Amino acid sequence: MSHASPPPPAPPPGEDGPDEIEARLLEAAWAVRDAAVCTYSGFAVGAALEDDEGRVWTGANVENASYTLGLCAERVALFYALVHGGRGFRRVVVVTDTPHVTSPCGACRQILWEFAKGATIVLANRQGELLRVTMPQLLPLGFDDDALVR
Ligand code: THU
Repeated sequence: MSHASPPPPAPPPGEDGPDEIEARLLEAAWAVRDAAVCTYSGFAVGAALEDDEGRVWTGANVENASYTLGLCAERVALFYALVHGGRGFRRVVVVTDTPHVTSPCGACRQILWEFAKGATIVLANRQGELLRVTMPQLLPLGFDDDALVR
């Protein structure tokens, strides 16, 4: 399935547009989205993370004939970053070509809570809609190692 697509149009001007770093992350997320292996859903997602050294890590969703084994773009990007030394994630950008931005699934929220608790999550679509949220907004009362006290 081909979902190669032209770069998105410039975002609308104004204070809600992406800053320089977000623009870089958006470009990376759109680029990696073209590599999504979304054989069954046709729903391609790109993700780009910025770590505490300003490095950018990317991932796209990968699906499987055994449907439940697929992995979301966010986790592909995050796991790749983690095993290559990325830490202290500051921003997580997620892009989809949808009328409205796409919010990370519950499983990704849990994983992001563990590794990107302080990050700004930036959700974007091709029309330039941009929604910035925090992890506590996405996952109120999140579960983490603080809870593992017996
Ligand atoms: N998906 C993501 O990669 N990230 C999201 O935030 C939402 C959903 C993927 C999983 C599956 O491959 C496809 O989109 C349809 O659910």
